[in-house]
Amino acid sequence: MASRHEPVLYHEVLSALNLAPGDKVIDGTAGGGGHLAGLLNAVGPTGQVMGIDADPKAINLIKQKFFNDQRLILINSWFSAIQKYVQRFNFEPVAAILLDLGWSADQLADTSRGFSFNASGQLDFRYNPQTTVTAEHILNTATAEKLAEIFKNLGDEPRAKAIARSIVKQRQVAPLKTTDDLRSAVAAVYRRQVGKLNPATRVWQALRLATNQELEELTKVLPVAVNILKPGGRLAVISFHSGEDRIVKNFFARASKDCLCPPEVPVCKCGHKAILKLISRGVTKPTDQEIRTNPRSRSARLRVAAKI
Ligand SMILES: C[S@@+](CC[C@H](N)C(=O)[O-])C[C@H]1O[C@@H](n2cnc3c(N)ncnc32)[C@H](O)[C@@H]1O
Repeated sequence: MASRHEPVLYHEVLSALNLAPGDKVIDGTAGGGGHLAGLLNAVGPTGQVMGIDADPKAINLIKQKFFNDQRLILINSWFSAIQKYVQRFNFEPVAAILLDLGWSADQLADTSRGFSFNASGQLDFRYNPQTTVTAEHILNTATAEKLAEIFKNLGDEPRAKAIARSIVKQRQVAPLKTTDDLRSAVAAVYRRQVGKLNPATRVWQALRLATNQELEELTKVLPVAVNILKPGGRLAVISFHSGEDRIVKNFFARASKDCLCPPEVPVCKCGHKAILKLISRGVTKPTDQEIRTNPRSRSARLRVAAKI
């Protein structure tokens, strides 16, 4: 089966990674294999690409897509574990690492998994079915306070507390099991749509991030990724959520500074040395043309840095 996923900021990513024939590269979010195809092309016949994805279905799809390509190592794992696989496969030196965060169009299209609020499905939301916590589990066991915190912090949902109360009220009658159940809990708060965004969008985003521990994974992987890279090697991260982008921005800012002492300290006492050099100042966003052809790219933000 072909992937439905359209890679975001494709040319910008490939140009920023500055790859040469023979390079070894890691795609930590292989997904539908869109960027991965470009990486294979850039490293040529003597290069190698390690493709990682938490979702075994993504890995199977890529296996079919790049059938028998000896340059490709595919691993079904969370990307925070990359160091282990670099050692296991003696995959060094690493010239670049790409992280294209969030879900793929293939996962969204698999309606039974619940990623789409427009379709009926299970409240699963897991990238990796081997993990035990589903969105259903969170919705039916978390306290109202915890649910409100998830919707507020991970979804910027202004009516987080009311939605949390609505969920708790609904589950006192019967546990929430399907996306229809969750949609009706949200609809009890938002009786009609305000503005362009469907109110379910923020709730779904927050629950997906919570189920897959996405901010925690990102926080864990960034220092590991820098550690793995060879000097001059590049790290590119595409995020779709303000919380994710903040983590990358703060990490890059700190790691690219020689001293972290407060401004009032005249002579550096911390001894911190920069380990990264920013390649792009600020973020790279998709062009209007890309947003027109691939609306999902709208919120994409690319940041790139090189290991010193
Ligand atoms: C936006 S898609 C990647 C699309 C890919 N770049 C392409 O061009 O086809 C994100 C993928 O990353 C995977 N993913 C998200 N978080 C992950 C994590 N912490 N570890 C491993 N895979 C992850 C998801 O399962 C999904 O397949």
